[in-house]
Parts: sequence; structure tokens; C-alpha cells
Amino acid sequence: MNATPPTPRFGRLIGVSLGPGDPELITRRGWAALQSGARWAYPVKKAAERSYALDIARRGGLDIPQDAVELVFPMTRDAEALARAWARAAAQTVQLLAEGRDLVFLVEGDASTYSTFRHLARAARELAAEIEVDTIAGVSSFAAAAALADVALAEEDETVAVIPAAYGTALIEHLLDEFDTLVLMKVKPLLDEVIEMLERRGLLATSCFIEKAGAPGERVVRDVASLRGETVNYLSLLLVSNPKRARGELRRGCRRRAEHAAARSIPPAHTMEAALANSVEGLAP
Ligand SMILES: C[S@@+](CC[C@H](N)C(=O)[O-])C[C@H]1O[C@@H](n2cnc3c(N)ncnc32)[C@H](O)[C@@H]1O
Repeated sequence: MNATPPTPRFGRLIGVSLGPGDPELITRRGWAALQSGARWAYPVKKAAERSYALDIARRGGLDIPQDAVELVFPMTRDAEALARAWARAAAQTVQLLAEGRDLVFLVEGDASTYSTFRHLARAARELAAEIEVDTIAGVSSFAAAAALADVALAEEDETVAVIPAAYGTALIEHLLDEFDTLVLMKVKPLLDEVIEMLERRGLLATSCFIEKAGAPGERVVRDVASLRGETVNYLSLLLVSNPKRARGELRRGCRRRAEHAAARSIPPAHTMEAALANSVEGLAP
């Protein structure tokens, strides 16, 4: 009788979000996964190159396991080279998981936000549908950037859109009329064009550029125009708020809910100032 070969019991593929650079922003769950005895895999752009994600863990004081594996994801527009690299990374991942041990894939920022992790998970599952995937959420670059710049992404019923700047200034201009805040990711190649458009729209004063948030070399640049002609780091983004945006009406039922929420939430600054002035007056001898 022919014995059927045993089906490999795959380990879990775990996407561990490490936050954008400061290891203090690794969540407790992420930290635990890194120390769980799972094998580590980390992304690099070229073989044997430094990995930004791995450096976050290193700065956090974690020992990099000897058997950690690099997966190469080249930054290229060559579709064939990309497809080959992805196929190789997916096959490597499945091969490692077939050993039965969990594999943590180190992700810069949040694993569900413009991350190679979702794509890798999909490609691995195409090769072995039974692979279990777990995603550990984390701090995205733009959440950390807003905190660093001391600005809000959205308050009350404001709207916010996160887009890659590569859609170009025509779309960005259109979205400026629709959203109170725009997060322009991957802004590097279009920075000069975007600066010119922001100047024309009178929005330079309400824009902020953040580079390498949480990592050595971090920069918050409020005088965005000063960046004209500069080659900035790929790990950079622009937060643009448009205080002039004409707001639409909220739907009636929502407005009621929004009003209730507003009643429960922090009153506007001018109301607080008045209340504070009154209470200070009350304290006066
Ligand atoms: C491939 S996406 C990765 C996004 C990441 N997964 C996240 O949650 O933010 C790369 C883009 O994210 C932004 N980014 C990532 N890390 C950053 C950082 N430390 N500081 C500023 N921007 C960053 C930049 O716009 C960069 O071009």
C-alpha cells in the first residue's frame, strides 16, 4: 500500500508592525511576537543591504537571531524583475513555514498600510492556501508624524485622506477641496511640484514635512518652501491641512449624533479660554 506523504504543518506567518522608527512605538504584542522564538524574516531592497525594519528592532535592544532571514524586494519599475523577486520571496517564505515554525515578518510602520506584508501573505497563500496569517497592527508613519509635528490629523467631523503623492498635483488639488487634511506619502519625487502648488493655493503655512520620523536623522520642517530643490529621503511625507475648505452638510441623523458627541467632547478653544478666564476671576482675592 502506498502511504500518502504527510502534509507539512505550516507555521503561522505573522506581520509584526514595528512603527515608523522609534522602537518605543513597537506595541507590546509586536514585542512579544519578536521574542516568541519564531524565526525572523526582514525586507531589504538589495541582497545583504541594511534593513530599515531590522534596524528598528536593533535600536530597541533586541538581539537579532542568528537564523534571521532577509527577503529581497527590489525598488524597481521593471515588472519582470519585480515578479521574479516576489515569486522568490513567496517561495522562500512557504519553504520556511513548512518547517512548522512561526515566521515573523518585520514591517516598518503599520503592516496594513502600504506594506509589502499584505502582498507577501497573499503570494504565500497562493502557493499554500492553508497558511495562517496574523497581522499585528502598529503605528503608521503618518500617525507618528502628526504627533511629532504637534498637529491633529482630524478633529471633530473633519475629513482626512491618505494618498501617495505620485497621483500628481492635479489630483492633490482636487482632494484639497474635498478633505480638511491630506497626508501625502512617498512625496520625494514630486516635492518641488507639490511645494509650488501649495504656494499657489496659499497652503504653505498649514503644511508640514516630516522625514525619518522616529529614526536617526528625523526632521520636522515647517518652512516647507525651504525644501525646494533638495533631495529628501524616501521615508518622508507631507501633512497638508486646508483650513479654507468649504464644508458640506452632514446628513441630518449624523449631525444629531455629531452634536451629541460634540457636547460630550472638548469644547472649542475660545469657549475654554472664556471658562478659564471666569474661573481665574473667581479665584481672584
Ligand atoms: C512603503 S510606505 C510604508 C508605509 C508604512 N507601512 C506606514 O505604516 O506608514 C513608505 C512611505 O511611508 C512613509 N514613511 C514611512 N516611514 C516613515 C518615517 N519614518 N518618516 C516619515 N515617513 C515615513 C513615507 O511617505 C514613505 O515614502
